[in-house]
Amino acid sequence: MGKPDKSGSLPEVAGKLGIGSYHRHVFLCVGEECCSAEAGQAAWDALKKELKDKNLSLSAGPNACYRTKAGCLRVCQQGPIAVVYPEGTWYANLTADRIPLFVQEHLIEGRPVEAWTFAANPLPNESD
Ligand code: FES
Repeated sequence: MGKPDKSGSLPEVAGKLGIGSYHRHVFLCVGEECCSAEAGQAAWDALKKELKDKNLSLSAGPNACYRTKAGCLRVCQQGPIAVVYPEGTWYANLTADRIPLFVQEHLIEGRPVEAWTFAANPLPNESD
């Protein structure tokens, strides 16, 4: 799978990216306040590879997942920090070696890896 063709109108580009088909969205911080640049990039590379290998990226299946590389999620310690929506599950120390288990258990089986999480903010927030 190569890079998606990003030519065309915005709706066409969204369609090529599978926007409208996703069930989850993972934001992974690669900023240098919460981890080293090397650790952040390694985690990002591992996430991209794992999503591709498991056919979750640019997919329309029930576990289709969009990914975004973030510059800072404002936690700025014990990174790489990540958050998964719609569950709003926040992860710390999501290093490259942890990505395969994270993808398998949370993104495929729907069970967050509780031992690596530190907060939850499901959306929509129905606590009010
Ligand atoms: S630099 Fe990663 S959360 Fe701020």
